[in-house]
Amino acid sequence: MLNFQFYNPARIIFGRGEEENVGKYIADYGVKKVLLHYGKNSIKKTGLYDRIVKSLEENNIEFIELGGVCPNPVLSLVRKGIEICVNENVDFILAVGGGSVIDSAKAISVGAKTDEDIWEFFMDKKKVIYETVPIGTVLTIAATGSESSTSTVITNEENLFKRSISSSKYIPKFSILNPELTFTLPAYQTACGCSDILSHLFERYFTQIENVDFTDRLLEAAMKTIIINASAAIEKPKDYNVRAEIMWVGTLAHNGLLNTGRIGDWASHHIEHELSALYNLTHGAGLSIVTPAWMKYVYKENPDKFIQLAHRVFDIDFAYNEKEKTIVSMIEKLESWYKSLGLPTRLCEVGIDDSRFSEMAEKCLVARGLTGNFKKLNKDDICNIYKLAL
Ligand code: NZQ
Ligand code: ZN
Repeated sequence: MLNFQFYNPARIIFGRGEEENVGKYIADYGVKKVLLHYGKNSIKKTGLYDRIVKSLEENNIEFIELGGVCPNPVLSLVRKGIEICVNENVDFILAVGGGSVIDSAKAISVGAKTDEDIWEFFMDKKKVIYETVPIGTVLTIAATGSESSTSTVITNEENLFKRSISSSKYIPKFSILNPELTFTLPAYQTACGCSDILSHLFERYFTQIENVDFTDRLLEAAMKTIIINASAAIEKPKDYNVRAEIMWVGTLAHNGLLNTGRIGDWASHHIEHELSALYNLTHGAGLSIVTPAWMKYVYKENPDKFIQLAHRVFDIDFAYNEKEKTIVSMIEKLESWYKSLGLPTRLCEVGIDDSRFSEMAEKCLVARGLTGNFKKLNKDDICNIYKLAL
């Protein structure tokens, strides 16, 4: 196990009805003016918007709105949010929605407190963030873990680069997690969210660091929980207990706890981000395509880690002289699970051909050199993984 620091100050407020107290929670921070940030129309359709506004008004909290965040959130709206925050003296941002809304809010929170161009923070990992506008969130989809993660992922629609920043400075002050708010999700979004959560667990699991048994076992428990409950949520979308399991795993999968003492891989995420940047694919659907291909390409780097996963999570018995067979059947089992949720496992299913593989692989490596840690991947490797996913 490696040396580590673990710091996650996000206050998680979990359970039914908590969104109705959002004004009270914000008031705790001595706030003068809030930017209420949200997506397209789901929160208005479900009535959540009205409940949030009511709570802000009851607590005498002045607010200004910016809706319109799209999935795979874009830089132009972030710039608009920054302008509003600066001109209106906003001192708190409330993000109501999914990872896209929260990521947009995080980027605004950075940009509103610096004179530098916000996009430079996404392209230059060495840039330091000193100050941010505090954020709170009301989560409406279990997926990215952005409600307590150190990441924000934004697409620059001018050059189609989709990039992230990592910083603890904009971890939300609080995040309200009411599983009931996810009852209205379309089945496809539920499935994409669960695929993303499982990938966050895989990315951490596939480490070359040894003697990380405790976090291995926590990751395995989280994976089993997601695999079982994702299927249940598709069947029973309004089952509170099922939604609650998914929501809590989603947060813990990406709040830093499960990568303590280990170094994760993240190549599948980087390879996927090129797909969602260029083709506006949903992140979780891109991952259900890339992950099996990545596994097929890299398993020889450390087959025993795959065997452990096959045995402990996918319940596959194995014989020591049949390692390869065990790993192949585990990947097949994973693909069947994705399919059972209605997710794609091949690029051709989402209308993507091989014409831009080379361009995506090149872009993936800009300002990175190589990607991945389980196996370090160069441009040819990335193209080979896209080919395996065709
Ligand atoms: O825009 P609205 O109308 O709200 O509709 C949204 C959107 O169309 C809808 N939705 C959300 N909650 C709903 C709902 N519809 C009905 N009922 C509800 N309760 O679902 C759609 C998807 O929302 P989005 O926020 O885009 O989903 P998600 O949370 O999966 O976020 C995806 C983005 O986060 C990034 C992804 O790359 C992608 O850009 N990621 C962020 C990470 C982070 N910050 O830590 C880590 C991840 O690996 C990921 O890269
Ligand atoms: Zn993800």
